[in-house]
Amino acid sequence: MVSKTKNKKLPKVSRAVSKVVGSYQKDKDMLIQVLLDLQSMFGCLSQEVLTEVSEQLEVPITQVYRIASYYKAFSLMPKGRHIIKVCRGTACQVRGSPRLLGTISAMLNMKPCGTSEDMRFTLETVKCLGCCATGPVVEVDGTYYAKPAPSDLRKILESSK
Ligand code: FES
Repeated sequence: MVSKTKNKKLPKVSRAVSKVVGSYQKDKDMLIQVLLDLQSMFGCLSQEVLTEVSEQLEVPITQVYRIASYYKAFSLMPKGRHIIKVCRGTACQVRGSPRLLGTISAMLNMKPCGTSEDMRFTLETVKCLGCCATGPVVEVDGTYYAKPAPSDLRKILESSK
């Protein structure tokens, strides 16, 4: 008789985590790298992924969650296809980033931080993008725009399908 457990296919998440954890020889010290790889694979770190990592790497779930929620590089929620980051650092703040954030938020008809229902955009704020003298600055999918006029913003957003 064939065991049902042996024939049962592992779910997709379990297989993916197993592959990534295995590629680091189940080394607990590679937790951050494991999470980075899985975030890249799935777009975010769901509860299911974190639980699998905890079980397969034999690290307490509280430790996995603490790492996943601490670093900005990780997201516990799915993100949109296009990531918009509005700088809210001091230099950009005094140069008008609140207005810039409000304009983008209004154009997308969404709250200042979050993801649109159609998963097209994620709008975030960041503390500094490292080019303070050109502020206010917005980053869209890795490209920086300094002092973008509303008409520029509209073109940028419309070209992001
Ligand atoms: S404060 Fe905005 S880029 Fe530094």
